[in-house]
Amino acid sequence: MQNSFIEQTASFVKERLKNAESGHDWWHIQRVWNNTKLLLETEDADRMVCELTALLHDIADSKFHHGDEQIGPRIAGEFLLSIGVDATTVVHVQQIILNMSFKASLGEVSFHSKELEIVQDADRLDAIGAIGIARAFNYGGFKNREIYNPEIPVEQHLTKEAYKNTQAPTINHFYEKLLLLRDKMNTPTGREIAAERHRFMESFLQQFYGEWNGER
Ligand code: ADP
Ligand code: NI
Repeated sequence: MQNSFIEQTASFVKERLKNAESGHDWWHIQRVWNNTKLLLETEDADRMVCELTALLHDIADSKFHHGDEQIGPRIAGEFLLSIGVDATTVVHVQQIILNMSFKASLGEVSFHSKELEIVQDADRLDAIGAIGIARAFNYGGFKNREIYNPEIPVEQHLTKEAYKNTQAPTINHFYEKLLLLRDKMNTPTGREIAAERHRFMESFLQQFYGEWNGER
């Protein structure tokens, strides 16, 4: 039964995200789902809640729905109820989706659970390392941002509003978010993987500045 719910959800999400922008496309979901399964090997939690949430966490991005932060949880909940998932599981999945994003974590977060910790780590791992770098420049290009501008200072601890409204070059995003994630990881395995990916980003930045300054 559980596996059938997960399979049906995967098909629903894959179909719905067919034309999604590439930061939150099916491949992002598949990577987060895989990261979730990896973390579940060493963490004790409700596997179905974790996998369903990994699959549904970006079903509708509030950025593209006039900032409506309820739309993702609503669509996820309607779908899960329609295939017969029990109400307790559905509410738990909705709570996690509402509270797990980096943006949400800059505001007031009132909900916590082991399952949230796992899926949040899985999502954060996809925002750092080589994939994280690729996604950041892809997003910056989509927004027509500069890759870097040494005249625009870097800000480290933006408020939720400032984070949402920043127009800064993509390199700044490393300091606004990517390099902060390592110390926000919830699970031991997540922390280990994040540490490696963090080092990779640091070495990328060092190389980037070197090339920028015309060093060989
Ligand atoms: P979250 O849902 O955790 O708040 P986002 O939806 O903001 O994450 O981000 C989706 C992807 O786009 C991530 O890989 C993120 O790092 C990247 N991204 C978000 N904002 C920016 C930005 N200002 N510049 C570059 N990349 C960004
Ligand atoms: Ni995501």
